[in-house]
Amino acid sequence: MSANPIAIQNFTALTDEEIQARIVAAKKALGERLIILGHHYQREEVYRHADVTGDSLKLSRRAADSRAEYIVFCGVHFMAEVADIVSRPEQISILPDLAAGCSMADMANLANVERAWRELSAVLDPDQHVTPVTYINSAADLKAFCGRHGGIVCTSTNARNVLEWSFKQREKILFFPDQHLGRNTGYKMGIPLDEMVVWDYELPLGGLTPEQINKARMILWKGYCSVHQLFRPEYIDQFKAKYPDAKVISHPEASFEVCQKSDYVGSTEYIIKTIADSAPGARWLVGTELNLVNRLHEQFKHEGKSVHFMSGTVCMCSTMFRISPSSLLWTLENLVEGKVVNQIKVPQAEAEQARLALERMLAVSP
Ligand code: 13P
Ligand code: SF4
Repeated sequence: MSANPIAIQNFTALTDEEIQARIVAAKKALGERLIILGHHYQREEVYRHADVTGDSLKLSRRAADSRAEYIVFCGVHFMAEVADIVSRPEQISILPDLAAGCSMADMANLANVERAWRELSAVLDPDQHVTPVTYINSAADLKAFCGRHGGIVCTSTNARNVLEWSFKQREKILFFPDQHLGRNTGYKMGIPLDEMVVWDYELPLGGLTPEQINKARMILWKGYCSVHQLFRPEYIDQFKAKYPDAKVISHPEASFEVCQKSDYVGSTEYIIKTIADSAPGARWLVGTELNLVNRLHEQFKHEGKSVHFMSGTVCMCSTMFRISPSSLLWTLENLVEGKVVNQIKVPQAEAEQARLALERMLAVSP
């Protein structure tokens, strides 16, 4: 970090209107030196300032293509890490609030994954028989692990392409950290549920027997997104009983039961596009984060479409919510002053190995 950045406390007394106006002014001052990337789960007051909005795959691609000096990522930590890895060395990736992590990403760490790899080698040679696949929602050192073990990264958009590629390399997959994305994608590809086992990283040999490991085609890490576990199949049944013509669309981080009852399953970008392309008057039940669902509701009500949230309880991604208008303004006004705050920098050796896994992903992505 540069010396003496403007302190964040200077922004706490500002009104919402002042903050919004100053963000616009700071963006103007920075011009083409800046790109703001915004994930679809960002709150409206932040989302509106993004130059590009998207899902994890689209934003990774835009980070790779951008020539801006500063990439300010309104999203979570792993996204800013990916932006740093895929961008040029002279570009600077910034996360406006360092507490914006992803609780699912935190469910896998390098020590546990390396231990799993060692323990698997008591049953089979994992470097011969297992392709490691990490969901993009993971730390850079896990992407680097995949890079050096012939593995790959996936997002919710390209999971199927990535799994197809992975099975061409080796006959089994170790998929982390999200068991649900792994199971939902594997099942759609025709892998029976009893050939997908869950690796409990707190137990020796993942709580599995050597026979279970030998039989399995996919070994799914015991991780999950707590936001997406709030969606329940019973809610879909109740909704469909009330509105038999309604369509259900869910993110693949939702449980197997929810995805099985959904008419469509896909990434945030896919959800937006599917609802946008639907006929006027369509009614949708949506199983993903609340900020996005509220935005869809507002955006499409004028076309007579109704968009409903799949839960009776409010469930936002609290870590995505950490990016506030004031933290964005703090970041931008420091940049205007030539001061870089909250830079996300992946160590070079780790970034090189992680880039391998990300490049494999980009090469097989639709
Ligand atoms: P998308 O890649 O679909 O935007 O998903 C990212 C995410 O974190 C969903 O919880
Ligand atoms: Fe992570 Fe879930 Fe938030 Fe997505 S919604 S960023 S998976 S905690």
